[in-house]
Formats: sequence, C-alpha cells, structure tokens
Amino acid sequence: MLDQLLSPITIRNMKLDNRCVMPPMGTNLGNRDGTVSEKNLAYIKRRAESGVGLIISEIMGVHPSGCVGLGIYDDKFIPGLKQMVDVIHQAGSKVALQLHHAGREAFFQLKKGQALGPSAAASFIYGIPPKEMTLEDIRMIIQAFGDGAVRSQAAGADAVEIHAAHGYLLTQFLSVHANQRTDEYGGSFKDRARFVIEVIAEVRKRVGADYPILVRISAEEFIKNGYSVEDVISILPDLVAAGTDVIHASIGTHGSPGGITSAPAEYEAGWNAWRARKIKEAVDIPVIAVGRFTDPRAAEAVIANGDADMVAFGRQILADPDFLNKARAGRFEDIRQCLACNQGCIERLMLEMGSSVRCAINPETGQELLVPRKPAETPRQVWIVGGGPAGLTAAVESAKLGHQVTLFEQSNQLGGQVFFARQVPFKKVYGDWIDWLVDQLGKTGVTVRTGVTVTDEMLKVEKPEVVILATGGQKSVPAIRGMDQPSVCDAWQVLNREKPAGKNVVIIGAGLIGMETADFLVDQGSRVTLVELLKQSPVLRITGHGYQLHKRLRDANVQFRFSTTISGIEGDQVTLSCDNRDEVLDGVDQVVLAAGMKPRMELKETLKQQGIRHFIVGDADQVRRIIEATEEGARAAWDI
Ligand SMILES: Cc1cc2nc3c(=O)[nH]c(=O)nc-3n(C[C@H](O)[C@H](O)[C@H](O)COP(=O)(O)O)c2cc1C
Repeated sequence: MLDQLLSPITIRNMKLDNRCVMPPMGTNLGNRDGTVSEKNLAYIKRRAESGVGLIISEIMGVHPSGCVGLGIYDDKFIPGLKQMVDVIHQAGSKVALQLHHAGREAFFQLKKGQALGPSAAASFIYGIPPKEMTLEDIRMIIQAFGDGAVRSQAAGADAVEIHAAHGYLLTQFLSVHANQRTDEYGGSFKDRARFVIEVIAEVRKRVGADYPILVRISAEEFIKNGYSVEDVISILPDLVAAGTDVIHASIGTHGSPGGITSAPAEYEAGWNAWRARKIKEAVDIPVIAVGRFTDPRAAEAVIANGDADMVAFGRQILADPDFLNKARAGRFEDIRQCLACNQGCIERLMLEMGSSVRCAINPETGQELLVPRKPAETPRQVWIVGGGPAGLTAAVESAKLGHQVTLFEQSNQLGGQVFFARQVPFKKVYGDWIDWLVDQLGKTGVTVRTGVTVTDEMLKVEKPEVVILATGGQKSVPAIRGMDQPSVCDAWQVLNREKPAGKNVVIIGAGLIGMETADFLVDQGSRVTLVELLKQSPVLRITGHGYQLHKRLRDANVQFRFSTTISGIEGDQVTLSCDNRDEVLDGVDQVVLAAGMKPRMELKETLKQQGIRHFIVGDADQVRRIIEATEEGARAAWDI
C-alpha cells in the first residue's frame, strides 16, 4: 500500500531506506550556548524511532551573527552534534544537518546592531534593519557555510541541507523586500541568487564530490511582489551546477501573511506539492514535497503521481512520532493526526520568545525526559472528572502507566468545548482528534461513565485514591437587560444546531468562540455583527488560523463593534453603547452569547476536606487553550 513511500532512494553516497523525511524543525531545546542538550537528544531519539528514512536537523547557525538556536560555527559544537547524529544512526535513520544563517531575522543580534542582511531593510517580523553586508562580509559568510558543512562531516552526519527558505539570510538575498543592492549580488532575480549559488558551490568544494547537499528553498515567496515559482525554476540549472543534489520545495517566509510556512488547517495535505512537481519537471534531481502531510497514504499518492520523490512530515512527527510504524502495521486509525493548530510548535517558538517546542495534542513532545518510561510501581485507582481535552488526555496517559482509570463525564458526549468547536469551518480535524482519544480510552482500558455527575457524596463514600479534576469551564453571562428574551441563546446551542441560524445575528464577544461561531453562521447565510468590549479582537492575525478567520469574516462582511457593550435587548432590537453613545440595531432575530468562560471546580473543597490526592487541570483551573489542557492533564497523570 505504501510501496513508493517505503522504497529506498540513493543520493550520492547516502542510501535512504525509504522516502519519508523529517524536515528541519527548530526546537529551542538546546543549551543557551548553542550546544546540544540532553533534551535535544531525547527529543530526536523519539523522532528517529519513527523509522523515517532521513532526518534533517533543526537549524544550525554557521556564524554567530545569524545563530538563533544550535550552533555549528565552531569546533566546540562537534561533540554534541556527533551525539545527536549517533542517536539517529542507532535508530536506523540517516541524518542531514541544516546549515543556517538568520540574517535580519536574528532578533538578539538585531538588537545589538550586529545582525547582517543584504541591505539595511527592516525585518518584516521585528521592524529593525540589519547592517548591510560588505563584500567582505559576504565572503566571510560563504566561507562559514563551507566550514559548517565540514563540521557536519566531522560530526558523522550523512548530508547537509542549506537553508535557503523561509526568509532567512539566503532568502533575503533572493527577495526584493530585503535585497536592494546595486552590486553583483543585487538586481535581477538571477543576480540576487548569486549569493545562494556561491554558498552551494563553496559547500560542494569543501565536502567533496560524494557528500549529498540538499537545498531547501521556498518555491514561492508568498508575499506581495515576492518571487514566484517561475523565478525559482529559472535558477535551478545554476543551483544544480553549483552542487545541489536534492531540492526541498518549501514555501513562504515568516513575514508572509498567515503563517504559511507551517500552514494552518485551512490548507489540506499536499497543498504545496504542485510546486514541487513544477520544480521536478525542470530538474533531474530528486525533489522533496512538504506541507500538511499527516497520512502516509497521501504521501504515497504524491510520489506515485510523480509530483515529488520524497515527502516530509513536519508537525505530524511532533504529533505522533510513531505514525510511520503504525502505518507500516496497517494501523492507520491509531495515528494521531496533526491539527495544524501550531499552538505548541511554530507559534509557540515565534510568539512566546524563549519557549521550546511542544505539541498541543502530544504532551510528550519536548518533554521526553519527563515522561515515565515504565509502568507505575503502585497502580492507583484514579478518577478523572470531566471528558474534555484535559480529562481525556489525563485518562489515556494514566491508563498507559497501568493505573485503574474511570472517567466521568456529566453530559452524554465527550470532547468538552471541542465537541462544539468541531462544527466550525476547518475544525473537523479537532473532532477527529477527540474521536482518536475516545478510541484510545477503549484501547487503554479506561472505564467511561458518561451522563454521570460526580458529587461530593460520591467522593466521600467511594474515596478514590487519586482524582484529576478536569471539569472545564462554564459560560460567563454578562448582566444585560433582556438576556431572557427568546432570541438569546449561547454559542454552543448554535454550533450544536439546537438553535437554527438566525438571519440577522448579534454575537456578544469577539474572542475565538465568538469569531468561530460567526464563521459557522455566515456559512449558513446569516448576517453577523460581533460586539466586543475590548479595543480589538484577542484573536491574533499573526497566527495561521487567526489570519484565515479574520480574512473569512472580513470577506463575508461581518461587522465588528469594538469598545462596545450591549445595554439592552428587547424584541428584535439590540442597544449598543460605545463612547457613552447608544445605537439601536433593528431586525435582530438572534443574539448569541460568547462572552467567555470561567473555571468550574465545585468538587475542590470536598477533595481537600476528604484528604483525597487530587490535581486540578485545564480550564477547571484557569480557562485557556487546548495545549494547556493537555499538558496539565498529562503531567498530572505522570505525577500520580
Ligand atoms: C516548530 C517548527 C520549527 C521549524 N523550524 C524549521 C527549521 O529549523 N528549518 C526549516 O527549514 N523549517 C522549519 N520549520 C518548517 C518545517 O520544516 C516544515 O516545512 C513546515 O512545518 C511545513 O511542514 P508540515 O506541514 O509537515 O509541518 C519549522 C516548523 C515547525 C512547526
């Protein structure tokens, strides 16, 4: 079934067992001095156990001026890199180290005035211009790439990948947005590509004829006036002549709108493969396709169609490092498929400065050293109260450790908030994840009791050994005159189709739930106004899903009223207040409450009084996102 994907391929002196690739992913797990840490090793070991043919390491800075993670700019890094390479080899995969220079995206160097760029054009992300590189700087960095490649060989890596994608230094040379040079390194696209070509040629000169060189390039800049896939095709012969053995066809820059390099759930598996195909048609060397692959069967189809020779699974290997082994065993239903939510991975690294990689649905990722690897010495009787993401994760994790687990859920369905969220556009995958968790409950032997409310009395009488309180949140109801009018309902009733979509709807609250409910309603033809107390939406446009959501609502002509409250609802009239002025909206046939949540923890006092060991996790403690819920649920299970 996966014949193509699992077939070997040889690149110069590197023979890969199969065509699955783990693409480079920065982790921020390294030591502060850029050396490899124990955390890096534990993380990469789990990925290498996946059985992918090739692992491409996270970015390795070839020069201090552009190093934003692990370093390869000095021999002192070689021992740690060698450990990393050895861990991967022991698991049976081959490894390429990714050589990188951040250019004008090196934040700390930018702040010190030491970041380099082709021109002094401000970074899209940080708004700070770098120092324009002199010809001497250019020669120095080209040589640094060569030095990095030699160190990669010394560390025992099987190949190198040159990072010419995503808006870092090499892309900056390619881009008119960053390169305004008037010398031979600026001008036409071909001239702007000179630096990239010289880097490849230097690496080839230094590593010899047999060593494989992969080049990762954004097949399209994906930004207004940026370069196109045709531009890339025009320089391919030069890239190959300089020594490239494989093109890794990625997309976009971190400055492109909507986090396109790690595309959100709005994009489907293989959405970028057509560009890989265009590149493949223009060259005679293997091409790697990447973008939203979660199911090996989709990757098989891409190779079978001739779109690409290899396929990279990025976030999928964070979500489930065992995905390929499960596929080999025909257990596709056991694969935990990436949601492309980006909460734990790319957006955490980019927006939460200093944080390291996680995964919203795989609590092990980035925390490999914390996960107990053996069953619990003393299996406990564990009650999980609440069947949302926190409770479900806590249940599966506790049961995997051998505890005797019962999960109680007050309602008749599992999934908590996600039970409703799965109805909104592009969130079906969230529902699939809940179905996966529910399936795992059965497979790990959790007893599930839906429709049961755990009471103080039950706790007092049955005294479970451990309780994980994952009761989630309850809706906040603002004190508005007219909340008892028949037109008023809450977002969950709408999403659950208990209330049909209105024609002219006012939603109270423009947070994520309010905006997603608007998205759901406009799909059904409703005209929607979102009323929000805050000055702007708390849903950030800088996130992949946030960008798409704002765009869809704008395109659907959804009205946002910020810094506004609702002072009354009467019949089909809703009175808004902004800046001490009232405005009446007429003809409103539905008012939907989405004004946020507050924690529910009724059982907390009894647990304390009864001296029952307990953990309060997820929204029951504080209302937050999926990642906090799953992480706290899992940690509680690991700490039992
Ligand atoms: C946490 C994270 C870190 C990443 N770091 C790198 C990196 O160091 N170098 C790189 O070329 N791409 C990096 N990427 C991009 C991925 O390699 C990949 O191209 C992208 O996630 C799309 O693939 P996917 O849809 O399979 O996740 C990173 C992505 C993520 C999620």
